[in-house]
Amino acid sequence: MVTAVILAAGEGTRMESELPKVLHKLCGRTMIGHVLEALQPAAENNTVIIGHRAEEVRKSIGEDFTFAYQLQQRGTGHAVAQALDYIPEKGEVLIVCGDTPLLTSDIFKELLAFHREEGCAAAVLTADLEEPFGYGRIIRDKTGKVIKIIEEKDASPQERQIKEINTGTYCVEANLLKEALTLISNDNVKGEYYLTDLVQILNDRHHKVSALKIDDFFLAQGINTRVQLAEAETVLRRRINEKLMLQGVTMMDPSSTYIDIDVQVGRDTVIMPQTMIQGVSSIGERCVVGPQSRVVDSALGDEVTFQNSIILESVVEDGANIGPFAYIRPESRICRGAKIGDFVEIKKSRIGAGSKVPHLSYVGDTTVGQGANLGAGTIIVNYDGVAKHSTVVEDGAFVGCNSNLIAPVVIGQGAYVAAGSTISDDVPGDALAIGRSPQLNKLKAAERLRSILKSKNRK
Ligand code: UD1
Ligand code: CA
Repeated sequence: MVTAVILAAGEGTRMESELPKVLHKLCGRTMIGHVLEALQPAAENNTVIIGHRAEEVRKSIGEDFTFAYQLQQRGTGHAVAQALDYIPEKGEVLIVCGDTPLLTSDIFKELLAFHREEGCAAAVLTADLEEPFGYGRIIRDKTGKVIKIIEEKDASPQERQIKEINTGTYCVEANLLKEALTLISNDNVKGEYYLTDLVQILNDRHHKVSALKIDDFFLAQGINTRVQLAEAETVLRRRINEKLMLQGVTMMDPSSTYIDIDVQVGRDTVIMPQTMIQGVSSIGERCVVGPQSRVVDSALGDEVTFQNSIILESVVEDGANIGPFAYIRPESRICRGAKIGDFVEIKKSRIGAGSKVPHLSYVGDTTVGQGANLGAGTIIVNYDGVAKHSTVVEDGAFVGCNSNLIAPVVIGQGAYVAAGSTISDDVPGDALAIGRSPQLNKLKAAERLRSILKSKNRK
C-alpha cells in the first residue's frame, strides 16, 4: 500500500498574501489541488499536514482526505511526524510538499518504481543545479552512495559547492520512516526538526538510501513567489492546450488561449486568440469560440458560434449564435439555434429555441418562448428600485425596436408590440399593442420654426 503525506502547514510569506500559499490557483485549481490530483493514481491514502490557516486549507481540499495538524512550525521532520498515526506499518510513503504543482503522476510512479527496483529504505528525488543556493545538498561517499542531506545553513563551504540538491520529494519504507522520525533532533542552525536527517539516520543503521535525479528541476520546484506561480502556470497551460489539440481542438494561437484544467472541449472546435475558458466549463463539437471571449462555469453545446463575448454560469444550446459583444450573466439559458447579437446583456433569462435578440438590448428575469424576436434596443424594465420582477414573451411574439417592457408583464403568443412602445399591461396573444403617443404632423410648421429661430439668432 502506498501512502502519501503532503506538507502544507507553512505560511508561504514570500507570496505576500492573505491567502495560504497552497491555495493560490494555477489554471483554475489550487496548488495543493494539483498535487493531490497528481498523487491520485500513485497513492491510495493521503494525509495532508495543515497548520497555517488550517481550516481554510481543509475546507478548500474537502473531506476526501485525512488531515493532521501541525500547530507550530517546528520543521519538516516535525510536520511529517504529525501524520504518524495515519502511516501504516507496511508499504511505501510518498512525502511531497503542497507547493509543487508541476509534479505529475508519472514522476510519482517513477519514484515508486525506482524505490522498488533499488530495494532501498528511502529514495530521494534530486536534481543538479548550476545555482544550488538555498537547497539541501546531497552528500555521497566515495562510492557514490547517498549518506546524508545537509541544509544550506549547516553546510561547510566545501559542501556548498555540491550541485546535487534535494527537491523535497521522497519515497520511504513506512516502518523505517516511523522509526526514524522518532530519532530526528533539532540540533542544527535553525533549531528545527529536519526531515532530511532521515537520510543519515537510515544510513547509520545500514539501510540503503538512493537518489533519483530528475532532468527538469523546474517540474519539482516548490513555488515561493508570485513570479514562480506565473511561470508554473504557463507550463500547466501549455500542457492543457497540447492535450486538447491532440484531442482534436484547433487553437489558432495557443499562447493566448487560457483554458482551465477542468474544461472540456469537443472535436473540431476552433478556439480563436485571446480566449479564456474557465472554471467548470464545457464546449461542444464544431464550435467557434473567440476571438477575445471569456467563458466561465458555463456549457456551450455543439456548433455554437461565440465571438467577442462573455458568459458566466449559463448554458448555450446547440447551434446558437452569440455575439459579438454579448454579455450573458448567471442563470441564463440560450436555447437551440437562438441568436444573441451585439451589445446585448442577458441576465437570469431563458431565450427559447430559434428566438432572436439581435442588437442593443437588456433582457433580465425574462422567459422568452420559441421563435420570438426582440427588436433592436428592446429593454426589459425588470427593476423598480425596490424589487426585481419577471417578464414573459411567449412563442412567436414580435417586439418592435426600442420598446420598454415594464415588468411584471406578459406578451402573449404571436402578439406584436409596435416599435417605440412602453408596455406596462399584459398584451393578449395575437394582439397588436401600441404604447406610444400618436403622431401629429403640422403642415409647413418646419419652415415657420426655422425662420423664427433665424431671426432670434440675428439679435
Ligand atoms: C526543504 C528541505 C531542503 C530542500 C528544499 C526543497 C528540509 C529540512 N529541507 O527546505 O533540503 O532542498 O525543501 O524545496 O526539509 N513545512 C511544514 N511544517 C514545517 C516546516 C515546513 O509543513 O514545520 C512545509 C512547508 O509549508 C513547505 C515544505 O514543508 O511546503 C518545505 O518547507 P520549507 O521550509 O520550505 O523547507 P526548505 O527550507 O525550503
Ligand atoms: Ca521551500
